Amino acid sequence: MTYARIAGIGSYLPEKVLSNADLEEMMDTSDEWIRERTGIKRRHIAADDETTASIALNAAQRAMEMAGVTADELDLIVVGTCTPDKVIPAAACIVQRRLGSVGCPAVDINAACSGFIYGLDYANRYLRTGGGKTALVIGAETLSRITNWDDRTTAVLFGDGAGAAVLQASDKPGILATHIHSNGEYEDLLQTRNGVSLGFDASCTPGAYIEMNGNAVFKRAVATFDSMARETVADLDGHLEDIDWFIPHQANMRIITAAAKKLGMPMERVIATVDEHANTSAASIPLAMDLAVREGRIKRGDKILMAAFGAGFTWGSAMLEF
Ligand code: UT7
Repeated sequence: MTYARIAGIGSYLPEKVLSNADLEEMMDTSDEWIRERTGIKRRHIAADDETTASIALNAAQRAMEMAGVTADELDLIVVGTCTPDKVIPAAACIVQRRLGSVGCPAVDINAACSGFIYGLDYANRYLRTGGGKTALVIGAETLSRITNWDDRTTAVLFGDGAGAAVLQASDKPGILATHIHSNGEYEDLLQTRNGVSLGFDASCTPGAYIEMNGNAVFKRAVATFDSMARETVADLDGHLEDIDWFIPHQANMRIITAAAKKLGMPMERVIATVDEHANTSAASIPLAMDLAVREGRIKRGDKILMAAFGAGFTWGSAMLEF
């Protein structure tokens, strides 16, 4: 049996840090409100000369170094992002060029915060069915570029960052199951009002920014995390107790805590980085995993359940043995 196994993981955070205290200077908010309602203390913001592709590249290089893989060995590059550098070409192609990889398919997936899980699902199917031996899956975002800094209800929530995983075909267990879903019925609850085909006129720039009905998204997110975790575990004839680590999408500490509680998962087995990174959309799960691996908390052989939820709505989970 061929598995897609994570051979290396890496991440990158821009140097600039924006604390809650900094935001207090910029808008009518408080460190206390942000921490109580979201658990967020600070977020990283891309420098002017950084883009989604450039930070994705940094994360990819770290993951490839851990995996001991060179650019010419890559058979697939997927970037989960809703903030690509340009409309065309894909951020994945820009990363591919800068890595010095030629010829393998390189594509972006826009599944908002679920982009990394969608990428894992794609790469898992690709490697298992003999499409190649090595895949690079990245989640990278520069959400600061579509954040409305005049809207305190969203501006405090987001950050920039990138995380990457190198997957290799292996006879040792790796990804055990993935499930991805979406429901476009919820388009209006979390969106940018304008876009490419709807128009990018500079006079309506605020339409390019993220808008969210926070309450409605919150409720839906908690319920969905619970159902998708159960779906994945049931598919494997397993039990939630078999999971060593739960890595949920990092949007809000209250969502993470509520999801863990519903699942009966003790917080010691939940990886939470939302306090330091805020919501980095598709980057949040690989960023959190990389941190936990490099801190020595997640070890080879550990069973990990990942679950994400985002605009669309999209949602998805992956169960894997590291
Ligand atoms: O990654 C994709 C998924 N995204 C999410 O999962 C985000 C889901 N939603 C959330 O995390 C939460 O709904 C928020 C953190 C966005 C908001 O928390 P909430 O507990 O739902 O607060 P609220 O929207 O009900 O706002 C409560 C109050 C309001 O004031 P009034 O109307 O009660 O007087 C807001 O105006 O807090 C006010 N408020 C703020 N106050 C200080 C909203 N934003 C801020 C702010 N600072 N930044």
